[in-house]
Amino acid sequence: MDEWEEGEGVTVFDHPLIKHKLALIRDKETKHFLLRELVNELTYLMLYEATRGLKTKKKEVQTPLAKAEVDVLGEKLVIIPILRAGLGMLDGCLNLIPTARVGFVGLYRDEVSLDPVEYYFKTPPMSNSMVLVLDPMLATGGSVSAAIDGLKKSGAEEIIFMCILASPEGIEKLRENHPDVSIFCAHVDEKLDENGYIMPGMGDCGDRLYGTK
Ligand code: PRP
Ligand code: URA
Repeated sequence: MDEWEEGEGVTVFDHPLIKHKLALIRDKETKHFLLRELVNELTYLMLYEATRGLKTKKKEVQTPLAKAEVDVLGEKLVIIPILRAGLGMLDGCLNLIPTARVGFVGLYRDEVSLDPVEYYFKTPPMSNSMVLVLDPMLATGGSVSAAIDGLKKSGAEEIIFMCILASPEGIEKLRENHPDVSIFCAHVDEKLDENGYIMPGMGDCGDRLYGTK
């Protein structure tokens, strides 16, 4: 595939801190406990930009000196980590927006067909909220597409998706299936390998985050 070029609805972060943390995340020598911290830190940095579209509303507060008209968040946020690896990005978001509500979609990829298999789905009410879906890896795009299908059926209207690494194939599929969903990622890698892994990627993110193997 030709080198991927940023297109409509896709934001790839270009910041030295994000690049530096991503370099450490990719390194196979980075142990699970440090990896969890790095993923949290990276998510925190990405969320700042990804939530730029959140609506605000006017309010009046009394400072020690005078009344001031201020802007506060005017829209609720619902965060949906896709289990398991998406959990690694949850704390980074809650640190920045502690009032957010949280739902969970449990999916794993069948090792042979690479099709997503759902095993858990529980969300708070999502209408009139910005719904932020988290999964570090956008590979074939099957898992996040299926998760968003379910979220839309359950009332989600305004959805954004944040991942760490994406493949060109995954972006194409998600844009095709859900063109209304904006994608934010730290990097778009070259391709998928024959087993559906992102190359050069970071390996199996869930296994690495939780020390499974
Ligand atoms: C990984 C990852 C995504 C999915 C991406 O999960 O966290 O959910 O694969 O692949 P796709 O874009 O091809 O669907 P995995 O199935 O390994 O489950 P886990 O998070 O429980 O490890
Ligand atoms: N899931 C992962 O954890 N890593 C990949 O590269 C692809 C899917």
